[in-house]
Amino acid sequence: MANRIRRRDFLKAGAAGVLGSSLLRAPIAFAKQKHPAFQLIAANGKFNFAQHKAKATGVMFYNQSIPGPVIRIPQGRESTILFNNALDEPSSVHWHGLRIDNAMDGVPGLTQQPVMPGETFEYRLTPPDAGSYWYHTHLRSWAQLALGLAGVLIVEEETPPLVDQDLIFAIDDWRLDEKMQMDTKSLGSMHDWSHAGRLGNVITVNGKTDQSYPVATGERIRLRLLNIANARTMNLLFNEPELSVIAVDGQPVKPFTPESGRVRLAPGQRVDLIVDMTGDPGERTLIEVVIGEYAYEVAGFNYDPIPKRDQMLDAPIALPQNPLQQTRLPDEFMQIPLRMAGGAMGGMRGATFEGREMGIRELIEHRKVWAINGIVGMPEKPLFNVRRGTAISLDVINDNSWPHAMHIHGHHFIYHKTPEFWRDTALFARGERGTMKFVADNPGRWLIHCHMVEHMAGGMVTWFEVT
Ligand code: C2O
Ligand code: CU
Repeated sequence: MANRIRRRDFLKAGAAGVLGSSLLRAPIAFAKQKHPAFQLIAANGKFNFAQHKAKATGVMFYNQSIPGPVIRIPQGRESTILFNNALDEPSSVHWHGLRIDNAMDGVPGLTQQPVMPGETFEYRLTPPDAGSYWYHTHLRSWAQLALGLAGVLIVEEETPPLVDQDLIFAIDDWRLDEKMQMDTKSLGSMHDWSHAGRLGNVITVNGKTDQSYPVATGERIRLRLLNIANARTMNLLFNEPELSVIAVDGQPVKPFTPESGRVRLAPGQRVDLIVDMTGDPGERTLIEVVIGEYAYEVAGFNYDPIPKRDQMLDAPIALPQNPLQQTRLPDEFMQIPLRMAGGAMGGMRGATFEGREMGIRELIEHRKVWAINGIVGMPEKPLFNVRRGTAISLDVINDNSWPHAMHIHGHHFIYHKTPEFWRDTALFARGERGTMKFVADNPGRWLIHCHMVEHMAGGMVTWFEVT
């Protein structure tokens, strides 16, 4: 299959010779536009996850779409996003992974007031780093995110690598009944909160169970993968041999080939790939999610009968560096222990909640079953309070029976297992001990929490302050 395509030096062959009539996607000219403005309206509505087989079901969505609209904004310049809350409950929008102004971070009770029904909030974003990010509700996310309030946010590089298609796979899961109707009865189930979170039984790519993406042999695709599920870690299997990872959690990395075509994404995480389409004209290849011993088809690539070009592109694929990559971690850190406890089979006897020591029974009555350093939910005092520029090492001990996807707001960090790149969300396996190292350089109050959002709701959340 792959060796049918002869490799040739793209640059030597000359663009005209190789590309022929096929046009590569040119960089987007944002330069002329000063303040791109978007409007996001959160509302209740109906959505159909499987076009052909089912009735629409009740959801919450942005701009009537699941996932919400793809927002593309320029790097380093201000964009305005007007958020309008047409739900019948308060909400807010968090811009996951963006190193922006604290006041725009979208955390009710910490960085802003909740946006009440009928109200509007103007988010002004000046993202320093290009890349693939996402936005989602940050209020009652165990319900609002489970019902659909999430979308993709792309910060455009000024000079992206040349590709034929810039594709997005926002991967999510849903708990639906046989008629593809949302299971709302189990929203907030204590069983979910104390176990793995709300896991769905239907996985979608861009809101659909059965989507096929048209491609052509010889095409080069940038594929942005995002896990926007409440709690499920997605193990993706690509049956396309030519994959390169070029970014992780939005940030450029030195391109590398993922092992055996697999990419794992914990909730909140992103990976950008360059995929060279080496399949045969007319064929269909699958993208699958591996759960245990089984692989489930979640989307497909449908090859056009006519190849795009007769050899693969050989142009560079590495992304330009972001300002973040200039950060140098020092040798000395302020070390902050972060011990995660609780959950089913975790043996937690009690913890402090709202300033009071409570036994596990009383905690369960308050629906609080997870603790960080013996404290359940948002402590009155921050986990730490430091001057801007302080280097922090969070020394994580995952002392319970579950994996946790730890996310830090407003900062990227170095996770001990992959010191070669920056992340904003890292998966800590059951029993894992390790570090998240970063420079606290963004003033304000920032959350640290598990992105399995039922765990956050159940108490696995804390905050820190940079002054
Ligand atoms: Cu995407 Cu507080 O998180
Ligand atoms: Cu967790």
